[in-house]
Amino acid sequence: MNIATPPLPIFRAEGVTRVYRTGSVEVWALRGVDLALNEGEMVVLLGASGSGKSTLVNILGGLDLPSGGRVHFRDRELTEADDRALTAFRRDHVGFVFQFYNLVPSLTARENVALVTEIARDPMTPEEALDRVGLAPRMDHFPAELSGGEQQRVAIARAIAKRPDVLLCDEPTGALDSRTGVQVLEALHEVNRDLGTATVLITHNAAIQRIAHRVVVLADGRIVRDEANPDRVLPSEVSW
Ligand SMILES: Nc1ncnc2c1ncn2[C@@H]1O[C@H](COP(=O)(O)OP(=O)(O)OP(=O)(O)O)[C@@H](O)[C@H]1O
Ligand SMILES: [Mg+2]
Repeated sequence: MNIATPPLPIFRAEGVTRVYRTGSVEVWALRGVDLALNEGEMVVLLGASGSGKSTLVNILGGLDLPSGGRVHFRDRELTEADDRALTAFRRDHVGFVFQFYNLVPSLTARENVALVTEIARDPMTPEEALDRVGLAPRMDHFPAELSGGEQQRVAIARAIAKRPDVLLCDEPTGALDSRTGVQVLEALHEVNRDLGTATVLITHNAAIQRIAHRVVVLADGRIVRDEANPDRVLPSEVSW
């Protein structure tokens, strides 16, 4: 008989601090964060403005290093990595989605995604990535010909096309109204369900926590809540 071993977390943060120093002023953005993110999990990260959400996600994604503590990605310690190794980690394993879509205006949706697939190791085609976010009919449109929600879905297609292990999303619906916001959440939900991509979703909107497997709340640089959400609903059932 096999005894199932529990899945290893994809990320482990232990005692993570981040202090910003500007002249003689110190800002403690993170004051000792312990967090494990499991494979395949969709985590919604909530907290007031300035509570440290972006700082934490940037550290998990290798965009920034903590001032203290350790971060592991699977069995690798990110906090020991040099710049070159962190760049390789981001390129091979992490997809980022931000509030503003950062698409190249002179390129079509397909060409924006192709910028990534041309340099990735085992990418999906731009067509498949765009199809997964419901944009197959709009592939040859330029960003200016797409709505905000559609542009964000192109940004999601670009982030998933390299088949990242984790998708880190910082306020992906922050600039959108609720109808287009739901379409973006649906795209993230489907990627998580169909590809098993672990996902961290930062939001100010507490209603969105209902789509998470797990909800984490930061306040003043500390985790004040970390709970499974057994009553998960589909994005279409969230209203805000
Ligand atoms: N580059 C920086 N230099 C100095 N202080 C910073 C810097 N980046 C963030 N901070 C400070 O660190 C704290 C946490 O910032 P962070 O951006 O992580 O918060 P947040 O939860 O993402 O907020 P928001 O919801 O407004 O995006 C804040 O007090 C912020 O002012
Ligand atoms: Mg932020």
